[in-house]
Amino acid sequence: MSTRKNDKTSKSKKPTTNGSRANGSRRNAGYGAVDPKIEDLAKNMEESAGEFLTSDQGIRINDNQNSLKAGNRGPTLMEDFLFREKITHFDHERIPERVVHARGSGAHGYFQVYESMAQYTKAGFLQDPSLRTPVFVRFSTVAGSRGSTDLARDVRGFAVKFYTQEGNFDLVGNNIPVFFIQDALKFPDVIHAVKPEPHNEIPQAASAHDTFWDFISLFPESMHMVMWVMSDRAIPRSFRMMEGFGVHTFRFINEAGKARFVKFHWKPLLGLHSVVWDEAQKISGKDPDFHRRDLWEAIENGDYPEWEFGVQIVEERDEHKFDFDLLDPTKIIPEEIVPVQRIGKMTLNRNPDNFFAETEQVAFHLGNIVPGIDFTNDPLLQGRLFSYLDTQLTRLGGPNFHEIPINRSVAPVHNNNRDGFMRQTINRGRTSYDPNSLRGGCPFQAGMDMSGFTSYAERIDAQKIRERSPSFFDHFSQATMFFNSQSEVEQNHIVKALRFELGKVETPPIRERMLALLAQVDKTLAKKVADGLGLTIPAKLDMPMNMSVPADGDPKKFQPKRAKVDMGVSPALSMVNNLGDAVKTRKVAFLVGDGFDELSLMEMKQALLTAGAQAMTVAPHLGVLTGQEGEVVKADFSLLTASSVLFDAVYVPDGQASIQSLMQENESTNFVLEAYRHCKTIGAAGAGVELLRAAGVPVSEAGVIVGDEDFEALAAEFIEAMRLHRHWSRESSETQTGEQPLKNLAATT
Ligand code: HEM
Repeated sequence: MSTRKNDKTSKSKKPTTNGSRANGSRRNAGYGAVDPKIEDLAKNMEESAGEFLTSDQGIRINDNQNSLKAGNRGPTLMEDFLFREKITHFDHERIPERVVHARGSGAHGYFQVYESMAQYTKAGFLQDPSLRTPVFVRFSTVAGSRGSTDLARDVRGFAVKFYTQEGNFDLVGNNIPVFFIQDALKFPDVIHAVKPEPHNEIPQAASAHDTFWDFISLFPESMHMVMWVMSDRAIPRSFRMMEGFGVHTFRFINEAGKARFVKFHWKPLLGLHSVVWDEAQKISGKDPDFHRRDLWEAIENGDYPEWEFGVQIVEERDEHKFDFDLLDPTKIIPEEIVPVQRIGKMTLNRNPDNFFAETEQVAFHLGNIVPGIDFTNDPLLQGRLFSYLDTQLTRLGGPNFHEIPINRSVAPVHNNNRDGFMRQTINRGRTSYDPNSLRGGCPFQAGMDMSGFTSYAERIDAQKIRERSPSFFDHFSQATMFFNSQSEVEQNHIVKALRFELGKVETPPIRERMLALLAQVDKTLAKKVADGLGLTIPAKLDMPMNMSVPADGDPKKFQPKRAKVDMGVSPALSMVNNLGDAVKTRKVAFLVGDGFDELSLMEMKQALLTAGAQAMTVAPHLGVLTGQEGEVVKADFSLLTASSVLFDAVYVPDGQASIQSLMQENESTNFVLEAYRHCKTIGAAGAGVELLRAAGVPVSEAGVIVGDEDFEALAAEFIEAMRLHRHWSRESSETQTGEQPLKNLAATT
C-alpha cells in the first residue's frame, strides 16, 4: 500500500503552539525547532519507494503494460476500470493557467524580524526576533504563457505568503514599485493590450507590438512605469538579484490602535543586477528556464537567496505633505525623502517537492492580511482585493482551494463555511451557523485582545462618484526623476529599449504619439528615440494626450498636470548604486581543451570558489580533459551545449595545446567575443591571450584581465573586476548615438 496519509488524521501532530493559540495567546509563541509549514505539508506527501503500484482506490495493479482486450489482437474492453481510471486522470491533468503571471517559479523559506516592531504594528510575525515565520515565494513574469521564456522584457511578480501564527499574510508585489494604471478598472485594458494580439496570438511574452503601445500612447499615467519597464530592471540577471515592492501604500496599526502609512520593500543581499537586452534574447533561445534554473540550483547548492524586508513609514499627519498622492500607485516615495528601514530578513532555503502541487496551485491574495496590517484607499489596491479570490475560484475549481496544502494556514481554521467542490475538511457536529446554542456558540468570535481582526476605522464622508482625484494627475514628474536618476549607461539602455519596442510597432501614428509622451518625460530621451526611428517629435498632437476620458467628461479636465516642483534625482533608483556582492554565486566559464596548464586553471578555480563563485569548464568535447602534466578535469559543457550568455564571466587558462584545440572551433572565439560585447569580465593566462586576440577582444580594455606566471595575482585581479558586474565603458562608443556599430575590435588589439 502507498504511504499516502489522510491530512485530517494527524491532528495530534500539530505544533504545540496551536494549543496556546486556543487560549488566546497567539503571538510570540515561537515555533521551536519545527517549521510548522513543513510539518503541515508532510501530511499530504507521498513517496512510492518500496511500495506496490495501486489504483486511486488502493487496488494493487498486476499489469501496467497492457489494457484488457478481447483476445491478444482484439478490441479493448469497456470493463477495463484500470485503463479508464488512468486515462481519465491524465485527460484532466491541466488546470487553467493564471490569466496574468502564468509563468512562475517558487521556493520555500522563512522570515525573521530583526527587532520588535511593536511600536508600529501589532502583527505577530513582526514582534519576536527569535520567531521564524515560514514563507512560500513565487516569482513570475506577467504577460507570457506558462511555458514562455524567463527572459522576456517584463515586470517580475514577487509574491510572498507568510504562514503566520495569526493566519496567512500575502504580500503580492512586483520587482517594480509602481504600476501602469491608477484604477483597477483599467487592468483588463492594459493586460489585453500587452498580451498576444487576439487575431493571431502574436507575439508571445513581449510588449513590443502595436496594441500595447497603442494603449500606452493614449494613457499617460503609465509613463512612470514605462520608464521602469524599458530599463534594465525588466531583464534581471536572477530573481535573487532583484528588489521587490508591495507597490501600494498600506497601513500599520499598533496595539494602541494608532495607524501609520507603510510601503513594503525587499532588498536582495546580492545587489541589483541585470543582463543586457541582446543577451536576454539569446538566453531565451539557449535556456528559456534560465531564471527558474538559477533559483533552483542556488537553493540546491546551499546558496540560499536572501532579502531584507524594508519599510517606509509615514505618520498619518504627513499624508498630504508630498508632491504626489500616497494613494497613487504610479508614484514612489523616494528613499531619500523617507528612508527604507530594514526590519528583517527572508531566506529561501528549500525547493518545492512538486511544481504543480506547490508553485502552480499556490493562490496569493492581497486580501490575506493579519491584525496589525490594513489597506488604504488606493483604487488599484481596492480593485485587486476583489480580483484574486474571484479568478482563483475558476483557476482552482471552486471555493475550497484554501485547503490545498500549499495554501493551508498553519493557524487553525474554524468557521461555518461548508461544502463545495473538493471539500476536504470533515466538519463534525450539527451546527454550521452563528449564533447557535446547540454548540455553545462555537466557533466564537475573537476579541481584539485575542487577535481578532478589526478593520481600521477610517473616517469616510464623501459623495458616491466615478472620478479621480486631481492629486493623481501629475504623470511625468516621477518618470523624469527616474530617468534623471539613471547612470548614462542605464539611460542609454532605456533609449535602446524604446527604439526596439517602438521599432516593432507597425502603425506610425502610435510611434509619434509615444514620442510626444516621451518628450514630456525628457526631451533628449525623446529626441534619441526619434532619431532611432527616423522620426521627429510631433510639435502638436492631433488628439488629447490622455484619451482615458469619460463619455461626458471634458477632455481638458483629464489632461496631465506636472507638479510645479522639480523632483530632482533619487540615487537609490540606479542599479549601479546597488551592486552588492557581484561575485558570490556567479558562474564563470573556463574555456579549456586538452593540454591545458593545470596551475593556471587550479589557481583561478580555487580563488573563485573561495570568493563564493562557481567555475565550470566548457570544452571542445564532453568527457574528460587531460592537462599538460596529465591531470584530468571533467568537461561540464561542450561548446555546443553552452553559451557565453549563460555565464557571468569567462576565463581562458594557459596551455598551448589547449588553445590550439579551442581555436579549431568557431564557437570558442564567438564565446569570448560575445562575453566582451556584453561587457563581462574576461580573463586569460599565458597562451589563453591568443584566443582573445583571435576573437578580436582588445586586451587593454576595462575588465579584460590577462597575465603570465603569477596566476594568484591574475585571479585576484579577475575577481576584483567581477565585482563591478559589467564593464560598461565598452559600450561608450555606442552611448552617444546608440546607432554606431561596435568599434573595429581587431584594430584596437
Ligand atoms: C500593483 C499592481 C499589481 C501587482 C504588484 C500585482 C502582482 C501580482 C502577482 C505577483 C501575481 C502572481 C501571483 C502568483 O505568483 O501566483 C499576480 C497575479 C494576478 N493579478 Fe496582479 N498585480 C497587480 C495588479 C493587479 C490588478 C489591478 C489586478 C486586477 C484588478 C490583478 C489581477 C491579478 C490576477 C487575476 C492574477 C492571477 C492570480 C491567480 O490566478 O492566482 N493584478 N498579480
